[in-house]
Amino acid sequence: MVAVVEAPGADQQGAWDAARVVFDQFAAADAYLFAVPMWNSGIPYVLKQWIDVITQPGWVFGFTPTEGYTGLIHGKKSAVIYTSGVYSPGVPLAFGADFHASYFSDWHRFAGITDVTEIRWQPTVLTATPDADRGAAIQRAAEAGSKFWTRSAATARDRRRRPGCRWLAGPAHTQVVSGRGR
Ligand SMILES: Cc1cc2nc3c(=O)[nH]c(=O)nc-3n(C[C@H](O)[C@H](O)[C@H](O)COP(=O)(O)O)c2cc1C
Repeated sequence: MVAVVEAPGADQQGAWDAARVVFDQFAAADAYLFAVPMWNSGIPYVLKQWIDVITQPGWVFGFTPTEGYTGLIHGKKSAVIYTSGVYSPGVPLAFGADFHASYFSDWHRFAGITDVTEIRWQPTVLTATPDADRGAAIQRAAEAGSKFWTRSAATARDRRRRPGCRWLAGPAHTQVVSGRGR
């Protein structure tokens, strides 16, 4: 058998280098904040594309035929806010299904990120008290944010640099990825 291995062309190398820049930004962060609306039962395509760019063998995961996949992203903290317009856990299938939190939560596990805080505000249509529910979700986010901050790897110097910033406060390289809903 003859294996032909071609060196990547300039375009391919350029694309690979660009992907590496995105991964390096992700890997340099100590903590992540993701705002993730449900789009057609899943996550927004921009977030999926970002996942597809950085989730490369040797970067985000390893693989062996005996052990399977192993996440390579360790020592990170992640906070995820899930929102949807109709779906919420436990609704009848006619109101939607969750390939949203289930997928993104599993991506965290796959990548090796185990310290994950989840906040949900679902749904906004079926609930009888949307304003109160929204207020409760914001309260939960504020509480989680204060704990997230104290658990984060930020230094006292980072805190001094960002006075008054609580939920979003974090290490200098905090990665924020968001998708906008309707
Ligand atoms: C393209 C698109 C698809 C959506 N699909 C769903 C869906 O499948 N289920 C659902 O409950 N909400 C769906 N929504 C509603 C969003 O989840 C909701 O607007 C978002 O979580 C709240 O963000 P907003 O306050 O910026 O609108 C969709 C919104 C958009 C724009």
